[in-house]
Parts: sequence; structure tokens; C-alpha cells
Amino acid sequence: MERIILTGDRPTGKLHLGHYVGSLQNRVKLQNEGGNKMFIMIADQQALTDNAKTPEKVQQSVVEVALDYLAVGLDPEQTTIFIQSQIPQLPELTLYYLNLVTVARLQRNPTVKSEIQEKGFNESIPAGFFMYPVSQVADITAFKATHVPVGDDQQPMIEQTREVARDFNRTYQQDVLVEPDIILPPKGQGRLVGIDGKGKMSKSLNNGIYLSDSADEIQKKVMSMYTDPNHIRVEDPGQVEGNVVFTYLDVFDDDKEKVQELKDHYRAGGLGDVKIKRYLNEVLQAKLKPIRERREAFAEDKDAVMAMLQAGSLKAEKVAAQTLDEVKDAMGINYFK
Ligand code: TRP
Repeated sequence: MERIILTGDRPTGKLHLGHYVGSLQNRVKLQNEGGNKMFIMIADQQALTDNAKTPEKVQQSVVEVALDYLAVGLDPEQTTIFIQSQIPQLPELTLYYLNLVTVARLQRNPTVKSEIQEKGFNESIPAGFFMYPVSQVADITAFKATHVPVGDDQQPMIEQTREVARDFNRTYQQDVLVEPDIILPPKGQGRLVGIDGKGKMSKSLNNGIYLSDSADEIQKKVMSMYTDPNHIRVEDPGQVEGNVVFTYLDVFDDDKEKVQELKDHYRAGGLGDVKIKRYLNEVLQAKLKPIRERREAFAEDKDAVMAMLQAGSLKAEKVAAQTLDEVKDAMGINYFK
């Protein structure tokens, strides 16, 4: 059976290597293996749930995220790429689904809980932010997605989607909505550590390498990477675990034998940080150059990118409209049909 795949990103900046490893690569693979109907959403409405006062950040990021998609090889001929806010059926579905979800259930969502902490919302949580998991249920069910490839932090959203779909079908006695399965990133590729070695690569921690970074920027970041703080002289034995250079070599270097040799040498002593950083720099430059060049080529005609998003949004809207119609039929509120 054909799989229907839906996923997306909040546009709050450009995409970095963490996105590349954790999701973009996987999406390109799913696209190119065929037999999958793919939808990728730029979730600007969800981004606005915690950026209401800085809409320009979200608005400007829409085209940047689209450029990142095109740069890594997502192909609008095969994958429908669209903008969430251009699909009016999504908030309408959200409104109906909200009646099937309790406030207590929303309060238990662990991802939302930790985001509330991170963002320091405390007692002043925007209501729109609080209920965004339900809007995400609409994103997924509107396309009858059978599979949602996302990071493990999104697991609670997929669980909630399954609950709502099940509850809806049971309540209204019709098999309208689909309970999707999650597709997690390959083992070890879920969360790429940032160049500072402190935590997951993220925009807010300012520890990222971006797909749009210039060759110089990449080199600077690699040369400043966290390694082994106790590896002071070249001849000292060094530690490979927790050493970001080796973490990245494991992820990005296809020459596994070479990586093993470097690890052995580093552990034994006699291999300096500058050498391993120069080597990693070469590996990353080779990976990122074609992506950056494609990105620059697409960036020359941003109007064409916006036209692609418009065409994708029109296509997506047709699908969502069909589902909404079925939902309203099931609920018995298609009065004038
Ligand atoms: N919540 C996702 C994120 O923070 C973005 C997103 C919105 C999404 N709607 C979606 C992901 C639907 C998968 C499916 O990155």
C-alpha cells in the first residue's frame, strides 16, 4: 500500500546540520525510494504560537527553510511542499478536535511541558501555544498521513494524533481519520550535539553549523569545536567519547576505517586537535559544498521559490478540503449539502 508521509518544521531560522542528520536526509531517502506520497509543511502557524510578537522572524524564515529543503534535494515534483497558514481547513479541523481533548491531557504533554519551562512562560502560557499539539493533529490527519517521520521529541504529538483519530472515528461512527505511525531517525542520528559539546545543536544555543554557512564559517566553527579539554599536548592520550570532532566524523565520514585509525591514534597520543579538526573540515566541506551551491542557485530566484510554495499550498489545500468535508459529514454538520 502506498504510504502517505507528512512532516514539517517550524520556520524560526535557517536549518542546520542537526536538522540535516535528524530529518532532512531521511526525507530525501523516503522521497527517492518511491512508493511514498510526501507532504512537507512549513509550520508557520505553529511557529507563531511562541513568536506572536516577532512575526517577521517567522515570515522571513519561510523562504529560508524552503531553500534548505530544495538544497538538500527535496523535489517539488515529487514532494508537496506547502505553508501551513495557507490551508484554512487546518484551523477548522483543530476547532473540532479541541472538543475531543481535555485540558488535563494537554497539560501532560511532556514536550509542551519542557518548552514551557525553556521559554519561561510560567503562568502566562499563550493559549495558542498550549493547544498547538491539537493543531498538529489537524496537520497530520488532514492529509490522512500513515507515517510521520520526526525526532523523538515529537512522539507525544503522534500519540495524541492517534488518540484523537481513534476517538473521532469511534464518536462519529465512521472510519474517516487515520492513526499514523511515527518513523524515528536511524539510531544515533536523532540528536546531533552542537559544536560546543554542551547540548543538542540548536539555534537558541548558538552552537550550530548551517546548511547556508560559507566555507569560511564552517572552517571557523570546526576549528573552535569542543574536543577533549584534558588533551593539552599532542603527545598526551586523548579521549574520543564526548569529543565533538569524533562524534561528527562518526556521523559524516563515510570512510569508517580511517575514522577508526584516527580514534586509535588519538587515544594512544601523538595526534593533535588541529590535525583532526582539519580533517573533519575537509569532510564537512565536501558534504556541504554541493548543498550550499544548490541553495545559492535557488536563492537567486526567490520569487520562483515562493511560486513553488504557492503551487504546493494549492495542492495541499485540495487534500485538506476533502478530509474536512468527510469530517463534517461524519459530524452531521454539512447542513447545506
Ligand atoms: N512540531 C514540529 C516541530 O516543532 C513541526 C510540525 C508542525 C510538524 N506540524 C507538524 C511535524 C506535523 C510533523 C507533522 O518541529
